Amino acid sequence: MIPHDKLFTPGPVEVSEKTLAAFARPMIGHRGEDFKNLYGAIHPRLQELFGTRQPVFLSTSSAWGVMEAAIRNLVRQRVLCCMCGAFSDNWLEVARRCGKEAEPLQVEWGQAIDHKAIDAQLASGKFDTVTLIHNETSTGVMNPLPEICCTLAKYPEVALIVDSVSSFSAVPIPMDAYQIDVLLTGSQKALALPPGFALFSVSEKAFSRAAQASDRGYYLDFLEFKKQQEGGMTPTTPSIGHIYALQSKLDDIFAEGLTNRYERHARTNALVHEWVRARGFEFFAAEGRRALTLTCVKNSRGIDVARLVRDLREKHHLVIDGGYGKLKGLTFRLSNMGDETEQTVAYLLRCLDDCLG
Ligand SMILES: Cc1ncc(COP(=O)(O)O)c(C=O)c1O
Repeated sequence: MIPHDKLFTPGPVEVSEKTLAAFARPMIGHRGEDFKNLYGAIHPRLQELFGTRQPVFLSTSSAWGVMEAAIRNLVRQRVLCCMCGAFSDNWLEVARRCGKEAEPLQVEWGQAIDHKAIDAQLASGKFDTVTLIHNETSTGVMNPLPEICCTLAKYPEVALIVDSVSSFSAVPIPMDAYQIDVLLTGSQKALALPPGFALFSVSEKAFSRAAQASDRGYYLDFLEFKKQQEGGMTPTTPSIGHIYALQSKLDDIFAEGLTNRYERHARTNALVHEWVRARGFEFFAAEGRRALTLTCVKNSRGIDVARLVRDLREKHHLVIDGGYGKLKGLTFRLSNMGDETEQTVAYLLRCLDDCLG
C-alpha cells in the first residue's frame, strides 16, 4: 500500500488494499453480459444485507443524491423531517428546495428522536412522509429505529425514508421487517469503499408513490432504477470501479458473517467508550443513544482539539475529526467502522494517549 495517513474519521474511512485492487480492475461495458453478470452476482447478497426482498439499486452519486431523490419520488405534499444534527437538519432544507412543504421535528444536538413525538406529529394527519437519519454522524447519536418503525406502522399512509449512511452493515437494519420505504446508504462509511457511490432499496408503497409523482426527474427516478434493474442494469453509466469494489467487500462481509461483523463493531466501539471514560472525557450523545460505529467525544477536559488532530497526523499518520460544523473544537470524533479491529482501534487509542501526553 502507498504510504498514507490512515483515516479514523467517520467517513470516508480507510479502504483496504484488496478493495482498492478491485476498484482498479479493467473496465467492462455497462450494457453487456459482463455487467449483468456482475450486478446479478452481487444482488442476492445486497438483498440479504438490506434485509429485503425488494430490488437493491446502485447509484453513482453520493448519499445526498438518493436523500434528495427520496424526497422527489415519495413526498406528495408535506414531509416531517426528524432533526437531531447537521445531516438530519439539512434534509429539511433539501426538501424545501425540492419544492415540498417540510416541517421540523427538532431535538437538541446530542439527543435522539423520540418515537412518541413522531406519533404526536403524525396524528395531526398533515404528513405523508417522514425522513429519519438512523445514525446522526455529526453528534454520534443512534436513533431508536425499532420503536420509530413501530410508531410508523400505525400510519400506513405515511412513507418512511431512512438514511443508514453511518450504520449500514455494522448494525442490523431489516428493511422489510421494519417496513421502511426507502433505506439508503453511502459507500464510504462502514462498507469501507471509496466515496462517491450510494446504495438503496425501495418498498412497493414507495414505488406506487413514485408512479404518482410527476416531477421526480430522470437521473434518480426510482421507476427507471426498477425497470433497469429488472434487466440487470442501471439507468445510466455507473461507476464500475465501485461495483467491483463492492463485490470484493461483499465477499469479505459474508466470509466474516453478518453477526460477527455486527459484534466486531460493537466490541471496537466499546473499546473507544472505555477509553473515553478512563481519560476523563464525556460523550456528546445521550446515554443509551450512542452510535456503535463512531464516538463523538465531548471536549469536557478543554483540550486543544485542533492540536490533537494535528499531532496525531504528524506523529502517527492517523486522521481523526475535530468536530463537525458548530461542534468543531467542542468535540472530536473517532470512527471504528469498516475493517477496523480491536488491534487497530487499540493502536489508535495508544497514539491518542501519546499525543495527549
Ligand atoms: C448520516 C449521513 N447522511 C448523509 C451524509 C451525506 O453523505 P454524502 O456527503 O456522501 O452525500 C453523511 C455524510 O457524512 C452522513 O454521515
